[in-house]
Amino acid sequence: MNTTPASLPGGTWTLGDMTVARFGYGAMQLAGPGVMGPPADHDGALAVLREAAALGINHIDTAGAYGPRVTNRLIREALHPRPGTLRIVTKVGAVRDEQGGWPPARRPDDLRRAVHENLEDLGLDVLDVVNLRLGDAQGPRPESLAEPFETLVELQRQGLIRHLGVSNVLPEQVAEAQSIAPIVCVQNMYNLAHRQDDELIDDLAAEGVAYVPFFPLGGFTPLQSTALSAVASRLEASPMAVALSWLLRRSPNILLIPGTSSVAHLRENVAGAGLPLSERDLAELDGIGR
Ligand SMILES: NC(=O)c1ccc[n+]([C@@H]2O[C@H](COP(=O)([O-])OP(=O)(O)OC[C@H]3O[C@@H](n4cnc5c(N)ncnc54)[C@H](OP(=O)(O)O)[C@@H]3O)[C@@H](O)[C@H]2O)c1
Repeated sequence: MNTTPASLPGGTWTLGDMTVARFGYGAMQLAGPGVMGPPADHDGALAVLREAAALGINHIDTAGAYGPRVTNRLIREALHPRPGTLRIVTKVGAVRDEQGGWPPARRPDDLRRAVHENLEDLGLDVLDVVNLRLGDAQGPRPESLAEPFETLVELQRQGLIRHLGVSNVLPEQVAEAQSIAPIVCVQNMYNLAHRQDDELIDDLAAEGVAYVPFFPLGGFTPLQSTALSAVASRLEASPMAVALSWLLRRSPNILLIPGTSSVAHLRENVAGAGLPLSERDLAELDGIGR
């Protein structure tokens, strides 16, 4: 098993001024059912985070809204004091309601509170990357991000945030953010079956901006496709391994943050994501989302 960021499948990417393994980890699945409350297996959740670090993963994606305030505190408990090379990317812009919904919270006071809560829960003085999450659970919405993004820029100037990103956004919102301040990443839904961001990914690659697909394995609805199953069985691999290998191959600026609450699945995903996909495999997989 690989044990350094550079030897993980996909190698590394420079996120702002930080070198991260392209194979990262998304912490959302560590909270309780519906991403609410604590995990059923607290020690198991800590074990997943510690295994990720032991495997060389140094990019963890999280949010104060997971739990809420559950995954950030688990990350702190499992990994504090973190090595200087571990980068934690968080999101602000939504909170949780009593029904488990994700209502927006993007007024300046909401965002300031969220940044301070993230700092407190993660035990940090500076957040490595903060993504402004827009839209809603159905996806991006056409709306200006100027006011909330400018609030984050102000918090960055105060030294509380190293780098900025945006999430759940349309291409024109990426451009609007970039007209205000530099961003290092865009985090949107994208996988073998959902490819609406193909052009955006290529544009960001040309600019040196990372694209971080959420739901790389399909999220709450696992990816299912006859073509994916056929390629997986030909390669004697799992569909998850094929889906992750395809993302790493798709573009060098794609950073993976697959989620899992299982040490075994984490190991499987890391071990499986470096499949050498042939032109025939790629052609068959390309057909899934087109
Ligand atoms: N910006 C946003 O709005 C947004 C939205 C959603 C998610 N995110 C971020 O994106 C990350 C990734 O998304 P996600 O975790 O929701 O979805 P995902 O990575 O597409 O899929 C996670 C699901 O796949 C299962 N899984 C993982 N590896 C497996 C394996 N080897 N075999 C079988 N099942 C496997 C997990 O179950 P087990 O736990 O049983 O392994 C879990 O149910 C999140 O953790 C979060 O950090 C961001």
